[in-house]
Amino acid sequence: MIKFNNLNQEIPYQLLKKKYDEAIDAGQKSIEAISISSYNKQTSEIDSRFVNLKFITKDEFIFFSNYNSSKAFSFNSHNQIAALFYWPSINIQIRMKAKIKETSKEFNQKYFFGRSKEKNALAISSNQSQPIDSYNQVKENFNKSLERDDLKKCPEYWGGYSFIPYHFEFWEGHESRINKREVFEKTDGGIWKHLFLQP
Ligand SMILES: Cc1cc2nc3c(=O)[nH]c(=O)nc-3n(C[C@H](O)[C@H](O)[C@H](O)COP(=O)(O)O)c2cc1C
Repeated sequence: MIKFNNLNQEIPYQLLKKKYDEAIDAGQKSIEAISISSYNKQTSEIDSRFVNLKFITKDEFIFFSNYNSSKAFSFNSHNQIAALFYWPSINIQIRMKAKIKETSKEFNQKYFFGRSKEKNALAISSNQSQPIDSYNQVKENFNKSLERDDLKKCPEYWGGYSFIPYHFEFWEGHESRINKREVFEKTDGGIWKHLFLQP
């Protein structure tokens, strides 16, 4: 589930919430799974991965990860990302483009404090995206980490990412194949330009 806090009143945010509610009513599983695509300027590679979107606070989308992971290196080299939901229960795809940044240390610490010790032990013990000798080693590192007495202290290398989309596309699949594509693009003046695209 995604937690909505004081959601922005503008049309694309309200439409996203409407579709979210419809998908929940239709029994959508893993509704918070969002694909984040990034570009790493150093390697000239594009990569994608799912993360769990935890919050939409006003106009900010927030998820949590490791600040030394592959994605973090991409975000640091090029802060523009593409994000994607697909909710098959209502046959909706939502595409977004945004610039991404880290959330504050205070915010990270507060969120980390509220999480389970098991989750935190893994976050602390995992050098995310780095090679390791075996899966057994991962489990050993986790078990060792569980014994620590600072499991509520957020490490410097872990925290949130926030992005504010400047582009939304709502794609609605229809049985007739006449699929609906509705775009909202934020102009320099801060107004949302609204248009439809051919399917
Ligand atoms: C449904 C789903 C949700 C996930 N949620 C997160 C998440 O919230 N944060 C995270 O760091 N990784 C999450 N992962 C793991 C990432 O997909 C990825 O393996 C990891 O972040 C390393 O990515 P990177 O090497 O591109 O940095 C999730 C994976 C799946 C399949």
